[in-house]
Amino acid sequence: MLDAATYSAIELLPDGRRMEIRALRAEDKADMLGAIDRTSAQSLYRRFFGAKRDFSEKEVEFFLNIDFTNHVALVAVLEEQGRAVIVAGGRYVAVRPGLAEVAFAVIDDYQGQGIGAALLRHLTTIARGAGFKEFTAEVLPDNIPMLKVFEKSGLKISTKRESGAVHVTLRLA
Ligand SMILES: CC(C)(COP(=O)(O)OP(=O)(O)OC[C@H]1O[C@@H](n2cnc3c(N)ncnc32)[C@H](O)[C@@H]1OP(=O)(O)O)[C@@H](O)C(=O)NCCC(=O)NCCS
Repeated sequence: MLDAATYSAIELLPDGRRMEIRALRAEDKADMLGAIDRTSAQSLYRRFFGAKRDFSEKEVEFFLNIDFTNHVALVAVLEEQGRAVIVAGGRYVAVRPGLAEVAFAVIDDYQGQGIGAALLRHLTTIARGAGFKEFTAEVLPDNIPMLKVFEKSGLKISTKRESGAVHVTLRLA
C-alpha cells in the first residue's frame, strides 16, 4: 500500500513548469490560508456551497489534521518568484468502508491547466491502493469545470440531480 502521508509526485503544466503534487503537511497552514486568500468568491462558493472566506480554528484544524487513512489531502505546489507556493488542494474523506467523498480547489489564476485533473488522478491512485471502490462528490449544477474533470477522468461515472446539486459517483475498481 502507498504511504499517503509522504506521497509526492512531479507533474508538468502545459507551459512546462514543474508542479509537485504532495501530501498536505501540518506546517502548510499559512500557505494553505494564503491559497484561500487568492481564491475568488465564486470558486470558494463552488467548493464550500456557500459564501465562505473566513474559517474558524476548528475548520482549519479539520483541514490540516489528516490521518491519511480516512482523510487524505494533497496539495499542488509551484514555484513563484523562487518560492514554493500551494496553488491547489484536493482531498477525500471516507464516508463508509469503500466509499470516500472528494473535493478540490484550484486558485483562479491556475484553473484550466490540468491541475484539478492531476489531483483527481493522484487521489485515485492512493484510494485504489487503500481499497476504496468509489468516490462521491456533490457539485453545483453550474460548475461545468468540475463536472468536466470528472467526465474526462476515464473513471466510470454516474450522476444524479438532487435538490440543487449534482451527486456524482465515480467507480475506482
Ligand atoms: C473545478 C476545478 C477543481 C477544476 O480544476 P482545474 O484545474 O481548473 O481543471 P482542469 O484544468 O484539470 O480541467 C480538466 C478538464 O476539464 C475541462 N475544463 C476545465 N475548466 C473548464 C471550463 N471552465 N469550461 C469547460 N471545460 C473546462 C477542460 O477541458 C479539461 O480537459 P482538457 O485538459 O482535456 O482540456 C477548479 O476549476 C476549481 O477549483 N474550481 C473552484 C472550486 C470548485 O469548484 N471545487 C469543486 C468542488 S467539488
